[in-house]
Amino acid sequence: KKGSYDHFMQKEIHEQPHSLTTTMRGRLKDSGVVLGGLKEHLKTLRRSRRVIFIGCGTSYNAALAARPFVEELTGIPVTMEVASDLLDRQGPIYREDTAVFVSQSGETADTLLALEYALEKGALCVGVTNTVGSTLSRKTHCGIHINAGCEIGVASTKAYTSQIVVMAMIALAIGSDQLSTQPRRESIITGLSSLPSMKNWINDLPCSQTKCHVSEDAEMKDLASSLIDSESLLVFGRGYNYATALEGALKVKEVALMHSEGMLAGEMKHGPLALVDENLPIIVIATRDSCFSKQKSVIQQLLSRKGRLIIMCSEGDISAVGPSASCRVIQVPEVADCLQPVINIIPLQLLAYHLTVLRGFDVDQPRNLAKSVTTQ
Ligand code: M6R
Repeated sequence: KKGSYDHFMQKEIHEQPHSLTTTMRGRLKDSGVVLGGLKEHLKTLRRSRRVIFIGCGTSYNAALAARPFVEELTGIPVTMEVASDLLDRQGPIYREDTAVFVSQSGETADTLLALEYALEKGALCVGVTNTVGSTLSRKTHCGIHINAGCEIGVASTKAYTSQIVVMAMIALAIGSDQLSTQPRRESIITGLSSLPSMKNWINDLPCSQTKCHVSEDAEMKDLASSLIDSESLLVFGRGYNYATALEGALKVKEVALMHSEGMLAGEMKHGPLALVDENLPIIVIATRDSCFSKQKSVIQQLLSRKGRLIIMCSEGDISAVGPSASCRVIQVPEVADCLQPVINIIPLQLLAYHLTVLRGFDVDQPRNLAKSVTTQ
């Protein structure tokens, strides 16, 4: 049921404080994480030569967001595979690999075929899904349910943030035998427990039939109205937030039916810079992390080419990122750097939502798309 919301996508975006709480419930302890579904396999996981993340669409993006902290906390190299591409290439998978399959529905045909393939190759197969009893959860050796609650809108929103959180917990569990990373693990656990109550974006729920009473929601509606006639939208991210750029662009493309591309900011000079002019809107994600100074320099380079920028920065950081008067700014609360993608995606989900409503398209059932892609 949609309750007081106009659309499921809107409801599911605003449900995230709750879905994140249920994702972590009973699993997050001061001393570490308890993941019953992995307990028996932790030793094998720790001995893996490589972790391979496999998924499609938003689930792939969630895994990409998790990649940096999984590598950091486990010391195991992580490779990324779009399920269909792995199958097309028949890419190498070995017995010493752990293949992690990420899928909201647990029924995506490409992901399930990639699972069959990895099982044949003898890899340990782990499932991360929202659907208890799904084919993915039945056929993998072990796994974790994300417990985000039923997601109806074709555009995946709350499942994305819960998937990232589950993969953070998996990384914490695998790395829990490493003394040297204990302080880092503790700060991530603190960050995780603070997520559901983060101020602004994440816990400002619309509270009645009039949708935009909260300033952030209204702010994104206003931003959406300024973009309504644009033909295209670029999103530049890097490091932890490369995935945020891809996922934000996927949301806009998928529901608002506007061309949008997420780009690695480090690649800007290798082609995309040629697109920059005063008309093309570009979102630059420049929240605080180890890539911050590089993103500031990207902003300066785009401004010097008269780019039309929308800058996402940490709260109170406007002067540090140095936007010009013509830039729009989206301020987000700061959390542990590797968890920042969980927060940063929310304004982009809201932007895609409002853009879709303003452009008059079907929010919950975008043309040509299905919630679960069960054919190849
Ligand atoms: O159910 P899955 O997570 O396996 O689905 C994968 C993609 O089809 C899905 O994430 C798709 O990209 C979404 N509609 C994006 O919002």
